[in-house]
Amino acid sequence: MKFFTTLLALASTALAAPSSQPQHDESSKRAAWPNGPFVTQGRYIRDTTGKNLTYAGTNWPGHNDVMFPEGLQYQSVEFIVQKIKSVGMNAVRLTFAIQMIDEIYSNGGKDITIQQALVQALGQANGAKILSQILAKNPRFTASTTRLQVFDAVAEELSKQQILIHLDNHISKGMWCCSGDDGNSWFGDKYFSAANWTRGLGYMADHGKSWPGLVSIGLRNELREPTNNQAAKNSYNWQTWYTYMKQAAQAVNNANKDLLIFLSGLNYDTYLNPVFEGTALTPGNGKFSFNDFPGYANKLVLEIHNYETGINSCSSLQNNLYSKGFKAMSSSAVNVFPVMLTEFGFAMDANTYRNTYASCLSTYLPSQKAGWTIWVLAGSYYIRSGRQDYDEDWGMLNHDWSNWRQPAYINGPFTSMLRGTLN
Ligand SMILES: *[C@@H]1O[C@H](CO)[C@@H](O)[C@H](O)[C@H]1NC(C)=O
Ligand SMILES: *[C@@H]1O[C@H](CO)[C@@H](O)[C@H](O)[C@H]1NC(C)=O
Repeated sequence: MKFFTTLLALASTALAAPSSQPQHDESSKRAAWPNGPFVTQGRYIRDTTGKNLTYAGTNWPGHNDVMFPEGLQYQSVEFIVQKIKSVGMNAVRLTFAIQMIDEIYSNGGKDITIQQALVQALGQANGAKILSQILAKNPRFTASTTRLQVFDAVAEELSKQQILIHLDNHISKGMWCCSGDDGNSWFGDKYFSAANWTRGLGYMADHGKSWPGLVSIGLRNELREPTNNQAAKNSYNWQTWYTYMKQAAQAVNNANKDLLIFLSGLNYDTYLNPVFEGTALTPGNGKFSFNDFPGYANKLVLEIHNYETGINSCSSLQNNLYSKGFKAMSSSAVNVFPVMLTEFGFAMDANTYRNTYASCLSTYLPSQKAGWTIWVLAGSYYIRSGRQDYDEDWGMLNHDWSNWRQPAYINGPFTSMLRGTLN
């Protein structure tokens, strides 16, 4: 059985090689940012020049009710990207909802307009008002611009300013994430169709081929135990996780051979132990194997989240991050991967950034050479949890996205964490 799998893996590697590595344009690829496609080698991510690299950036949500990137009623795409660039961040985790792709399929292959999306999410009057603000700030858009075209514009500008794009499937139904009873927690939950999810990932992986900066995709944000759905809860385990991760990774790779694929763990993506420890994916006996990703085993990256914001011991925080995820970057892991902390964050007030959690991360992350994306860029949301123009007090940017909410953090510990990670 094992032998058979290996043969299949070799066969598809050989078949995949000519299309994924066209020899004639290798040199032109080498010359052009971002020097992709990226591959992994052990705990490192490498570009086509052989250079190791990682991400140091932020989360830009596009998965809430309107289902396109936030902030555009306050600032232009160019302004926001310039703000990200100004402190030296090199990556954006751009989140999307599967519902957007479901609606494209329901609508004969055509996405709905931002006008329609805003009216659906905000109501007739406020939808019209926010639309006119978006058009005033972003004259390249019109009422008939689609949500996907907004993603395209954001991706184009990020690429132009040489910021790596990591797409993240954040949720199925477009809304604020995440809780155990939001219907998006686990396969088979109210809004979480595994088939729609796999289809949506493939769709975005394919669509993103036209974005020069797109280098990776996260299969699913913060899988968690359903608290109000017994049928879905019954399958909440590592065995089910692996079944679906293999399907989704294959769908992404079929659609776009270039992308790195990020796997996230259970309990809100706080641990991945059986994956890197090579222990049984319970309740079955099966184990994680790179052979199950034939031809693209060197595309897999692990991501974890940490929100232990009240912790008062830096060594406890380090131990938790290490034992639940970062250990995968060490030689004591059975399966070695690059690991990124794709979410962490805290209130951007005058004091919180001085606490143990924030200051510990700003030295520990560079020391591990672990990539990261902070939650969250957004200073406000079109709508969150039913409240319009929701103020995000964890936002790096202020309410109208015009400046940093807490410049002392951004220009201080944040910048040194960034430089330490990227240098
Ligand atoms: C870069 O990655 C390679 C593996 O691809 C590794 O052997 C090497 O030590 C890394 N170099 C640095 C400076 O981290
Ligand atoms: C899956 O997508 C179809 C459209 O293709 C949609 O009608 C259906 O409601 C979606 N399923 C879920 C659970 O959202």
